[in-house]
Order: sequence, then structure tokens, then C-alpha cells
Amino acid sequence: MERTLVIIKPNGVRRGLVGDLLSRFERRGLKIAGLKMATMSRSKAAEHYAEHEGKSFYEELVGFITSGPVVLTVIEGPKAISIARSMAGPTDPSKASPGTIRGDYAISITCNIVHASDSSKSAEREIGLFFQQEEIQRYDLRNES
Ligand SMILES: Nc1ncnc2c1ncn2[C@@H]1O[C@H](COP(=O)(O)OP(=O)(O)OP(=O)(O)O)[C@@H](O)[C@H]1O
Ligand SMILES: [Mg+2]
Repeated sequence: MERTLVIIKPNGVRRGLVGDLLSRFERRGLKIAGLKMATMSRSKAAEHYAEHEGKSFYEELVGFITSGPVVLTVIEGPKAISIARSMAGPTDPSKASPGTIRGDYAISITCNIVHASDSSKSAEREIGLFFQQEEIQRYDLRNES
């Protein structure tokens, strides 16, 4: 079983896509194990995107992710990390196939709708940035037998 951090970015919230996007993960058979809404502080955003500090797009990235509320979710399931990444599609929505989240809802590389952790190490680090252990729920899905 794996856990990954999926973030619905501010434009996903502003466009009213929260239910639609969460529903895709539920429909796929992945479990919502943690869920909250928050507006990221600049320091939280800087921690989350620390690997990109100094890159040309960094300021735009941090400005965007702090521009309004996001939905933070811990998604759990077998191979959840790679499944969530493939559901999100490539970073640049212009390269994303229809059927992926970015391929269905985005055209801008900055405003690419969702974040999904890229490895188990990133997932653990990123979940720890936004969730306390007790905010992650344990329950069985009906389709997990
Ligand atoms: N070349 C670029 N130009 C502009 N923005 C970029 C570029 N590369 C990445 N970004 C932005 O930085 C974010 C983080 O980049 P990263 O390489 O981690 O992509 P990702 O893992 O697909 O996206 P995310 O971490 O948001 O899930 C991207 O989602 C995108 O918004
Ligand atoms: Mg990334």
C-alpha cells in the first residue's frame, strides 16, 4: 500500500473542479485517507517546492500556489504514487493526452491543476509537510477485499 500527496491547485478550486477531480481518484479505486483545504503560506510553498528554488519559473510557481486556497489530499492504494502521476499526466499540459487530468482541464504549465508526489521519498516528505499522523484516516474501501 502506498500513500501520495495530491493537491488541487488554486485554479482547480477557483474553477469549481474539486468534486470532479476528487471523484476521479475515488472512481479509480484509490482511497481518500486525508483531506483538507488551506491557503499555502509562502514559507510552506517554499518548503514544498524546495527542489525548484533558483529555477526561472520558481517565483511564478510559488506566487501561483499561494494565490488562493488549495485542496490537499492523501491518496492511498496499491501503487498510488505512480497511478496518481499517470492520472495527472505530464507536467506540461500541452503534452498531456485527453483522459489525463492535465489533458482534460489545463493548457498552462504553471496552472496545471494538480500536484502529485513523484516518488515514495517525496510522498513521505510532502505528506509530512501538510498532515499530522492523526489527520490520516484508516478505513477499508468496499472494493478492497
Ligand atoms: N519549465 C517550466 N516552466 C514553467 N513552469 C514549470 C516548468 N517546469 C515545472 N514547472 C512548474 O513547476 C511545477 C513543479 O514542477 P515539477 O518538475 O515538480 O513537475 P510535476 O512533478 O509534474 O508537477 P507537480 O510537482 O506540481 O506535481 C510544475 O507543476 C509546473 O507548474
Ligand atoms: Mg513535482
